[in-house]
Amino acid sequence: MSAPPRRTLRRPNRTPTRPPVGDPRRFEAFADYVERHWPARDARIADVAGGNGGLQAALHRLGYSNVLTIDKRRRFAKSRPMFRYGLFSEDESEHFDLVLGMHPDGATEMIIVYARDHGIPFAVVPCCSVGKRTDYPLWMGYLERLAGPHEVDLLPIRGRNLVIRPV
Ligand SMILES: C[S@@+](CC[C@H](N)C(=O)[O-])C[C@H]1O[C@@H](n2cnc3c(N)ncnc32)[C@H](O)[C@@H]1O
Repeated sequence: MSAPPRRTLRRPNRTPTRPPVGDPRRFEAFADYVERHWPARDARIADVAGGNGGLQAALHRLGYSNVLTIDKRRRFAKSRPMFRYGLFSEDESEHFDLVLGMHPDGATEMIIVYARDHGIPFAVVPCCSVGKRTDYPLWMGYLERLAGPHEVDLLPIRGRNLVIRPV
């Protein structure tokens, strides 16, 4: 008797269905954008959800000397000068002149609410991975309503590249 034919399992399709969020040019592009709108080099800037500090480094190269990167992932923020490990929230107690978020995931709303409540400027480049909020146009619409009067600008990068900035 011959052996029964072997059944092969189909691999799941791993083709990404969402655009990439990780264009390596994003930090330089965002830093250039900051320079165009907020040229004061001594501004106290929060780089919220800043990961491993790519935006902070790009801002330093332009001469911004007072940038604090905040991230809830310990491996990024622990024990490095100008980094703070922990959650950023709308109840943030420290004062900043400008709050930035490059693909800040769940901190996006908090940046907008914090800045709005304190009457300070912000710029966020939302991405899409916030819990179940994977519908980018809906997510953007919600954030734009939250932001009040604002502009939406385009950064010259691949992937999520829209910046929301109050006016
Ligand atoms: C998609 S990564 C982007 C990191 C970096 N901005 C970049 O472009 O490479 C999102 C980051 O947000 C951080 N994050 C999300 N919510 C946060 C919060 N409420 N406070 C601080 N960090 C937060 C995560 O730890 C993660 O490092």
